[in-house]
Amino acid sequence: VNLIQNFIRVNSKMMIEKDPPDHTRLRKLANQGFTTRAIESWQYIIQNTTDRLLDNVQNHGSMDIVSDLSVILPGLIIAEIFGVPETQRANLIEWAIDMGTFWGAPGSSNIEEYARKADLAAAQFSELISQLIEERGRQPGTDMISLLTVAYQEQGLNLEELPSQCMLILNAAHLTTADLIPNGVNALLHHPEQLQKLQENPALINPAVEEIIRFDTPAPFVFRVAKQDLTIGGKHILKGSVIALGLGAANHDPAKFDSPEVFNIMRSPNEHLGFAPGIHFCLGVVLARMELITCFTTLLRRLPNLRFDPDKQAIPRHTSLVFKGFDSLPIKF
Ligand code: HEM
Repeated sequence: VNLIQNFIRVNSKMMIEKDPPDHTRLRKLANQGFTTRAIESWQYIIQNTTDRLLDNVQNHGSMDIVSDLSVILPGLIIAEIFGVPETQRANLIEWAIDMGTFWGAPGSSNIEEYARKADLAAAQFSELISQLIEERGRQPGTDMISLLTVAYQEQGLNLEELPSQCMLILNAAHLTTADLIPNGVNALLHHPEQLQKLQENPALINPAVEEIIRFDTPAPFVFRVAKQDLTIGGKHILKGSVIALGLGAANHDPAKFDSPEVFNIMRSPNEHLGFAPGIHFCLGVVLARMELITCFTTLLRRLPNLRFDPDKQAIPRHTSLVFKGFDSLPIKF
């Protein structure tokens, strides 16, 4: 526990770790960062960031979807939405990855090294965010840190809980979307007839994004603690037990989905649980969908001849139960 003091201090205040009434209060405040006006301003940031990253590789004829795009894109977008200074954005992505790696790899043999890195990341991250909150409290702008800080100040609340909520939003926004992009490219390239359908009819992008989330769910498990003895599906669960909810498995449940193993970008209805059920339902669902729609649309428009790189191996990640994605996905175009 000594090794991860900072990590625990920061994580234990996040709303994702809370039950009502604390969760209800924190979630209402966090919603203030997602106003219609703010959401409208994000589209430009998303398109511009996606184009900038593709400009870097456009003339190469090949790229790694992970290292050249997905592991940077959502972090850069959310950092800009938060108004994090440009010089700190690369650090922020590193910190999110270090915290996510530790969080997602409880059984790993490298756990001590991961813990050390995650703890340092939590300390540095929290210091930067606290400093930004203080600045924006004095001089608010239109970025998300300002919106959240003003919401806390207007209610006369102590700002002590806010850095943790900001870090939750930053981490949740980065890690999941970073995995969904390669999962989606991989699914489309493995199903050329679906890819072709989407290329011929780009308006199918909305159902295609939902199907990608269902088919290769980037957050396949979420965890809960039983507050009382329960019986679910004939299994007895004792109070205090940790329960892993298999969202990825639920998204392939044949009782819910016709031919769940078929990747069908026109699937309808598609009531997947990729954003989780219940009160912790993904807060960033609007941003996630905007990013994914823009990213896939731009990829297909700018790289129409996109295909797996026959000379290189894709590397699916096997170190985590919590985040399902790729460490590398080389393509040619
Ligand atoms: C494809 C992209 C995404 C997926 C698949 C995803 C999935 C999820 C899931 C499964 C949860 C529930 C976790 C749990 O119950 O333990 C969740 C919660 C959350 N997500 Fe997302 N997410 C995505 C993108 C985003 C983005 C872009 C943001 C922020 C802008 C975000 C912010 C959050 C937050 C703050 C929570 C916690 C909500 C709460 O505790 O009430 N997510 N997300």
